[in-house]
Amino acid sequence: MKGIILHGGKGTRLRPLTHTGPKQLIKVGGKPISQWGIENLIRYGITDIAIVLGNNYPEKVVEYYGDGSSLGAHFTYIYQGEARGLAEAIYRCKEFVDGDRFVVHLGDNIVQHGLEVLVNSTDESAVLLAKVDEPSRYGIAVVDGNKIVKLVEKPKEFLSDLALVGVYSFSPHIFDIIESLKPSKRKELEITEAIEKIIIEGKTIGFSEVDGWWKDTGTPEDMLSANMRILDFSTDYDTKGTVEASKIEGRVFLGKDSKITNSTVRGPVYIGDGTVVENSFIGSYTSIGGACHISGSELTNSIVLDSSTVSDSNLNGSIIGFKCTIKRNNEKPAGSRMITGEGTSIYI
Ligand code: DAU
Repeated sequence: MKGIILHGGKGTRLRPLTHTGPKQLIKVGGKPISQWGIENLIRYGITDIAIVLGNNYPEKVVEYYGDGSSLGAHFTYIYQGEARGLAEAIYRCKEFVDGDRFVVHLGDNIVQHGLEVLVNSTDESAVLLAKVDEPSRYGIAVVDGNKIVKLVEKPKEFLSDLALVGVYSFSPHIFDIIESLKPSKRKELEITEAIEKIIIEGKTIGFSEVDGWWKDTGTPEDMLSANMRILDFSTDYDTKGTVEASKIEGRVFLGKDSKITNSTVRGPVYIGDGTVVENSFIGSYTSIGGACHISGSELTNSIVLDSSTVSDSNLNGSIIGFKCTIKRNNEKPAGSRMITGEGTSIYI
């Protein structure tokens, strides 16, 4: 069985983080969001994977993942460019799929487990469903007894609270259906509409409800909540770094060559390779990337991406991008000094 990871899209709701790279490469719990999905496929024995690239720094995706061998997989890159919809992205993989059944995993979705139904189903398509609070944000399934009877993309009116999770499996018949689709109101070829057409053909869609948790990481709030879930459920806690005159409480991952001095770290926390933390308090649900420098600061429920510096600052519920600097301004005249990119949010 082959796998497809959708790594395109615009990521507008995550600006400014997405001004310099695709949203799927933003790290939660120390790994890019898309890597959680890729590793999920690999766990189910799917190692022949196509990664569909958009036009927001696609070269950064290739540079990060390479040929896939470091993850025990083989990656084929397929360029989609402009985001013309999930179905259009999938259609570009027709040759790669070459007549096999395949699983599609959205690169911005993290699913804890439960892909069995997708891997084992013999239906034309199988999907995962999950109860959601805001059905109008998702593709929605209407279930009658043990059958999906209708699927609608982002319905304005309430139909059901069961959303389509961003993982699907298909037989190659889906390519014939995609050929017959017309662009939707948002000018995309919708995969939800393609699956709905399978229902109209009188065929059954395999499904199961997500057992565990699932996160679509479209917004900064989603990112922080995915980070929290990952840190809660990760079993990969290890101390490879050095700890001096510090208190480490609970589950804390310390990457190699990291150094914690005169600080308290209260897990669950992830700290990447080569990061220095001094005279600081790192509270629960914080992920700090590699090569960061944190001093004289308090960080809780936050994500700091690689190569960033935070000093003399208190952060809560924050996402700090790659190579950023947050410092208290001790110079005169007093006051906050900022150089911010388009779409930045600052709460002082
Ligand atoms: O998260 C689950 C939802 O994902 C489903 O409930 C919806 O039915 C489904 O349409 C999708 O909705 P979104 O509006 O959240 O999709 P989004 O545009 O965010 O794209 C999802 C992923 O696919 C993201 O990683 C970007 C990638 N993508 C998206 C488009 C439109 C592509 O690679 N190419 C594209 O053309």
